[in-house]
Amino acid sequence: MRVLVVGGTGTIGSAISDVLGAAGHDVMRAGRSSGDFTVDVADRHSIRALYRAVGPVDAVVCAAGQAKFGALAELEDADFNLSIASKMMGQVDLVRLGVDRVTPGGSFTLTTGSLSAKPTPGSAAVAMVGAAVEGFVRAAALDLDEHRLNAVSPGWVAESRVAAGLDPLPGIWAEDLAEYYVSVVEGTETGRVLLAEEAMP
Ligand SMILES: NC(=O)c1ccc[n+]([C@@H]2O[C@H](COP(=O)([O-])OP(=O)(O)OC[C@H]3O[C@@H](n4cnc5c(N)ncnc54)[C@H](OP(=O)(O)O)[C@@H]3O)[C@@H](O)[C@H]2O)c1
Repeated sequence: MRVLVVGGTGTIGSAISDVLGAAGHDVMRAGRSSGDFTVDVADRHSIRALYRAVGPVDAVVCAAGQAKFGALAELEDADFNLSIASKMMGQVDLVRLGVDRVTPGGSFTLTTGSLSAKPTPGSAAVAMVGAAVEGFVRAAALDLDEHRLNAVSPGWVAESRVAAGLDPLPGIWAEDLAEYYVSVVEGTETGRVLLAEEAMP
């Protein structure tokens, strides 16, 4: 399969790209400023240009999109607007603008986060946009006749915990998380949100 991984140079996306590549797929990585292609998912013109540059693909995986952490009282309008434009509408628009670009029978796999179902203090904007994407996935999949649409909802990634100065566990290693994405890309399901907090059984 020819697979476009948006965010394919990041912690999660690079693991997804590596595991997809090892499974024999032809992987193209897009990042905001790195990768085989560059794109800003918060900009619809940029998404259109990405699809034009990449050409037909069989699957799109998104592990990109910014959302702002912060206590409710500290979150500014700009923080909500960025979270909505990037993590929420960025992923929604990858689907809307990609329907004509992804081959029939192909798939979109988006990324949310376990905070949407299990929030912690300081996650209002992050949880909000993740939940919005999950609602979009469940509903939009019903309208897509020729494509599958799913999301993976990761727990805190072990590498990200280490980068934050914490023990890696309890966390999910990016390589283990990537297996959820590969199972969705290669699978048959649609309209599903897969909670991925530990390695697949
Ligand atoms: N890490 C976690 O513990 C965790 C847990 C749950 C959910 N998530 C979610 O998973 C997603 C990826 O997280 P991550 O930890 O892998 O992030 P990351 O390491 O910071 O990587 C982000 C990737 O997305 C790209 N990117 C960032 N902003 C972009 C934009 N506006 N347009 C296009 N590409 C953009 C980056 O490209 P450049 O490097 O070129 O900027 C990079 O390839 C995020 O939505 C995050 O909220 C992460």
